[in-house]
Amino acid sequence: MIDLHTHILPGVDDGPQDLDGAIAMARAALAAGVRVVAATPHALGTHLDVSPDVRDASLTALRAELARLLLPLHIVAGFECQVVDRLPETLTTQPAYLYARGPVAGGQRHVLIELRESLPVTALDDLLFRLQMLRITPVLAHPERHPGIARSVSAIEGFVRRGGKLQITASALLGDVGWRERRVCEALLGQGLAGVMATDAHGVREAGSLGLAVARATKLLGAAAAAALVTSAPAAILGLDLAE
Ligand SMILES: [Fe+2]
Repeated sequence: MIDLHTHILPGVDDGPQDLDGAIAMARAALAAGVRVVAATPHALGTHLDVSPDVRDASLTALRAELARLLLPLHIVAGFECQVVDRLPETLTTQPAYLYARGPVAGGQRHVLIELRESLPVTALDDLLFRLQMLRITPVLAHPERHPGIARSVSAIEGFVRRGGKLQITASALLGDVGWRERRVCEALLGQGLAGVMATDAHGVREAGSLGLAVARATKLLGAAAAAALVTSAPAAILGLDLAE
């Protein structure tokens, strides 16, 4: 499995404060069957704004520790970007804020967007259009938390039909966040609007939750469609060949 959204990097944002904490998360992910993790610290926000340089230094330290401990977890670089007015321009001049892209050729670049509750759903259509002009696809993190989408998932249907992607959260589908978020996740899955599932892990418990969440999704969608949420769908976003 691939976990497309985590705060596993030590000492950069509200994830683990040190390498030991990050390694504990890595062990939990491996035990759950995860082999690739995207490290997506918060960026471009007023409160948390990790720079590409700071991310890369933490990433290098974590990769070295994983190698030293012979832990076979592959870490891919990403960010969770807040929507700022000039996000499309920022991504053009600083592609480090996009997901790092692997060897599979021909795909679009993708950016993980932190979907703030205050952002009107209507603003997302404009953002999608501006990013698509740059051949960038937005992936919205935790849509189940957004009040406009929680009221009716049909509010986000146009965004998905036009090519935007939604990443639901494993712990929310499992009901760990609340019954409302679980119900929204189920509705997004049931209507074919959720493209990817990831943990948004800040700690050990969430880092190990992907396998249980796939089991839950399997009851709703069947095994093949549930597996795709954590295998082929995130692999396409990262440009990875699953056969490797
Ligand atoms: Fe996150």
